[in-house]
Amino acid sequence: MIEGLKTENAEKPRLVILISGSGSNMVAIAEAVKNGDIDADISCVISNRPQAAGLEKAEKLGLETDVLDHTLYPDRKDFDTGLLRMIEEYQPDLVVLAGFMRILTPEFTRYFEGRMLNIHPSLLPKYQGLNTHQRAIDAGDDIHGVTVHFVTEELDGGPNAIQAIVPVYDGDDAASLQKRVQQQEHIIYPIATKWFCEGRLNMKAGNAELDGQALPESGVQLDSRS
Ligand code: GRF
Repeated sequence: MIEGLKTENAEKPRLVILISGSGSNMVAIAEAVKNGDIDADISCVISNRPQAAGLEKAEKLGLETDVLDHTLYPDRKDFDTGLLRMIEEYQPDLVVLAGFMRILTPEFTRYFEGRMLNIHPSLLPKYQGLNTHQRAIDAGDDIHGVTVHFVTEELDGGPNAIQAIVPVYDGDDAASLQKRVQQQEHIIYPIATKWFCEGRLNMKAGNAELDGQALPESGVQLDSRS
């Protein structure tokens, strides 16, 4: 339970999850909520794409969904203002970006700083931006991975909470590597969400802290090779 919510009538922490695509990370978190592993309520799953496959998955899980189609907005600022309003209707404790493929304005990221997480398919700070799997292969890396981090103004640049390392094998292509990485995504995103909901994971003075201890730059590291 998040600090400050520890009253007698404390409600569970509320999550709003933002998606753009298949929503597999959203499903992983929703399942962890459903089976009681994460003590939280998912208030809404919001997509910026009306056709996102994740919307149907969320509905099948009995979750409330909403759509804010970015193509109907003249610019990024207007869309982010609309999105902020939509999210705020739910008064969430945590905003979870789960494959939300939009660059967010500084106004938006500042508003939710310390209570918005993102998952990025690389061992941040390595490979911010797109095409991370191909870039790791092209660079001849023998490890790759995925990171859950707090969102700040810097794209893929906020402090890391947790990351999982996967091996890169000879003969891997971007698709095979992505598959290996995604298996780890579905493990670490529910873990980070659980920590946050329990009040264990915080962002203070620009650093991620777990149980009051500043985390190293990598965040907590899980190594799927061991
Ligand atoms: C994941 O690979 C995540 O790392 C990236 O977007 C993808 C989302 O996948 N940010 P899904 O929609 O959760 O299946």
